[in-house]
Amino acid sequence: MSDWIDVVVAGRQDIARDIASFTFRRRDNASLPAWAAGAHIDVELPGGLIRQYSLCGAPGDRSAYQIAVLRDDAGRGGSRAIHDQVQMGDALRIGAPRNLFPLVEQQRALLLAGGIGITPILSMAEEMAQQGVDFALHYCVRSAERAAYLDRLNAVGLAGKFTLHRDDQPDTALDAAKLLAAPEMGKHLYVCGPNGFMDHILQTARFVGWPEHKIHFERFAAAAPDPAAANDADGAFEIEIAGSGHVVQVAAGQSALEALLAAGIDIPASCEQGICGSCLTDVVKGIPDHRDMYLSAQEQAANDCFTPCCSRAKTARLTVSV
Ligand code: FES
Repeated sequence: MSDWIDVVVAGRQDIARDIASFTFRRRDNASLPAWAAGAHIDVELPGGLIRQYSLCGAPGDRSAYQIAVLRDDAGRGGSRAIHDQVQMGDALRIGAPRNLFPLVEQQRALLLAGGIGITPILSMAEEMAQQGVDFALHYCVRSAERAAYLDRLNAVGLAGKFTLHRDDQPDTALDAAKLLAAPEMGKHLYVCGPNGFMDHILQTARFVGWPEHKIHFERFAAAAPDPAAANDADGAFEIEIAGSGHVVQVAAGQSALEALLAAGIDIPASCEQGICGSCLTDVVKGIPDHRDMYLSAQEQAANDCFTPCCSRAKTARLTVSV
């Protein structure tokens, strides 16, 4: 990651159980880069961890960025680091916003958020409300105390378009099959939340006939590896750099990204678990063994790109264009 932006933590607030929001301003008080709903930033945390968080402040606000983080004691450590070690006034570095989950402009939307997945979805709703585009937002939480940003969700412009579904109130349960039935022309589906929630919504949407190009989603954690799928497929393979004749050996157990970087081939990367798409690399020959959650099933089937941070090869050699 290059082009870090030096920021100061200008606000920190507990906004729901185990969820804290953080506001960042540039240390030199200049404007931050422009962004749109769905964008995320890299945040360099104490201890050197780099994590991605969706921007969820006022849409387009360049004076400050806001993120919200759910503390996950069973996670990889990023949420614990920011909850426990980042306070008002601290200096941090962040990356410029990148948007891998953009809204399709001026198209109606069904927005579905599970838990902390509300962060990009809230910005999408506020942006659509500002633009006068029709949408409905459904937010699923375990209980009211775990629901973040209810004030903004109930604000004028969103009220009436927003439904809260609480696990502790079964009569409010989301009926995904009913909600997603009969996909309408010109309406897009946006989904963000924990993997179980995402899998349920995406499977239901596909089952009832939502076309793939109308389904948009962003995961914030890789699914746990399926032990049943534990494979011999972590073996060695080769990557040829198209047009150069340069061949990089990927050892068994080594990621393609690690091998490429070690060979001096600069591939941007961020999450390193197949979620963010930063490392997406064009494949011109050979068949990737896709293990990411960034590409859709259709995109994976095209086999014309892969994510070297986690994906491997089904053929002895992949030829890539970098
Ligand atoms: Fe995020 Fe590869 S670095 S998908």
